Amino acid sequence: MNPRDFIDYYLIEMKEKKNPNYSHFDITDLKKIMLELFITGQETTSNMTRWFLIYMSRFQEIQERIQKEIDKVVPRDSLPGLEHRNELTYLDATINEVQRHCSMLPIGIIKCAAKDVRLEGFDIPKGTMIMSVAALSHRDPTYFDAPNEFNPSRFLDENGKYFPTCDGFQAFGIGKRQCLGEQFARMELYLMIAALMQNFTFAPPDDEGQMSLAPSTVRGFHDPRMEQKFKIRLRN
Ligand code: HEM
Repeated sequence: MNPRDFIDYYLIEMKEKKNPNYSHFDITDLKKIMLELFITGQETTSNMTRWFLIYMSRFQEIQERIQKEIDKVVPRDSLPGLEHRNELTYLDATINEVQRHCSMLPIGIIKCAAKDVRLEGFDIPKGTMIMSVAALSHRDPTYFDAPNEFNPSRFLDENGKYFPTCDGFQAFGIGKRQCLGEQFARMELYLMIAALMQNFTFAPPDDEGQMSLAPSTVRGFHDPRMEQKFKIRLRN
């Protein structure tokens, strides 16, 4: 056998039924997992990319700095790849800062305490529903200096090295049930956005002042506003 991916491994496990009295592995469960991965993995990354482009249209000087960084590292006739990533630190820091500033998923998935627990001085009885609020944490001055400012450099250390997370950063949730797709999503965002920044410049349409950073609140998420248009210029 030569398993290629998650589905192959799952089907092998189903077939072998290593523990027949205890196995959860069946085709219904596999379908549910695949559906969950499609739902959780699709709109998140595409909406985040749109958020990024809105921020770049608004903060042109930051977009320019990213483009200069890419031009220095990536030959003009090839696309940015993972091999360039260690040197594109300002780009990764900006992706992180967009995630913090827009708080696309303002609240985490609701959890329920399975037993009585004491956490940070609080007694939480069994059965209590608990919800993390990323949007508050992301604008909390305890964790972030001048939290309302959009400042990608906050995710770079004094040597210009990028650090992807810190206390208070909850774009992918926290704890045992934090986003399963985080590493994959970060890689996708980096590759898509690096290619877009290398080849295009995004700006607000001439006749419409600044881009708005206000989210659309239609679904209770902080979705980017779809009615906003961009002016897109091809870079030489
Ligand atoms: C920018 C992209 C993404 C963001 C911002 C994001 C964010 C989140 C957040 C905030 C949670 C809830 C965590 C918690 O309750 O503490 C979550 C859960 C989850 N995410 Fe993502 N996500 C992204 C992309 C993806 C992708 C690409 C996949 C899969 C391919 C994925 C799969 C999941 C799954 C399966 C869960 C549930 C995890 C569990 O309950 O154990 N996500 N995500």
